[in-house]
Amino acid sequence: MNSKKLVAPSILSADFSKLGEEISAIEAAGADWVHIDVMDGAFVPNISFGAPVYRCIRKITKLFFDVHLMINEPIRYISDFASAGADLICFHFEATEKIIETIDAIRACGKKVGLAIKPSTAPEAVEKYLPMIDMLLIMSVEPGFGGQKFMPDALEKSKHIAKMRKDKKLGFYIEMDGGISESNIPQIRAAGVDVAVAGSSVFGKENYADAIAKLR
Ligand code: DX5
Ligand code: ZN
Repeated sequence: MNSKKLVAPSILSADFSKLGEEISAIEAAGADWVHIDVMDGAFVPNISFGAPVYRCIRKITKLFFDVHLMINEPIRYISDFASAGADLICFHFEATEKIIETIDAIRACGKKVGLAIKPSTAPEAVEKYLPMIDMLLIMSVEPGFGGQKFMPDALEKSKHIAKMRKDKKLGFYIEMDGGISESNIPQIRAAGVDVAVAGSSVFGKENYADAIAKLR
């Protein structure tokens, strides 16, 4: 997991009436990963979809599945999400007290581990877990909905985490999610972000290849 400047379109903004075509279209357009937002209506005030939905699209693409769980107590469902075809399972620091147990459960399924933090969570809160994970996801909006405005405090947070990563000689990816567009991507990349998640600024555009290219 060493390549940088990846783009992960979030299918939350895709047209679900033709999800397979949408996945094929972003694959052809050069997407690196697919970002899959699972919401439970409890951890966040919205419900999206679960493992049965992305299990279907797993059959039509080899793209890396970056599964972002916005659900309480994610440990209950790790084996379901793994068997449905996730490559990386990312859960929220704020959603459970069982951080290490959940990391271990994801590893036991042979999947990469991501840990996500909401805008109000400080980098220090997750510092001790950094050696155990493959990716840290910094939310740049309150999780729950696509199409929100980017919160610029996420940039300082990313710089801080990138410094921690360097000082500790670690290699986890830094991902950012929420409100990313071609206008703020230069600052986001400069703050050390490797994986840019984009919902509306890919699926809201006519030309997906052009939209993805502008987010590198
Ligand atoms: C929000 C989700 C995001 C969302 C991003 O809770 O985690 O992945 O789809 O959408 P945009 O890029 O439109 O902000
Ligand atoms: Zn997300």
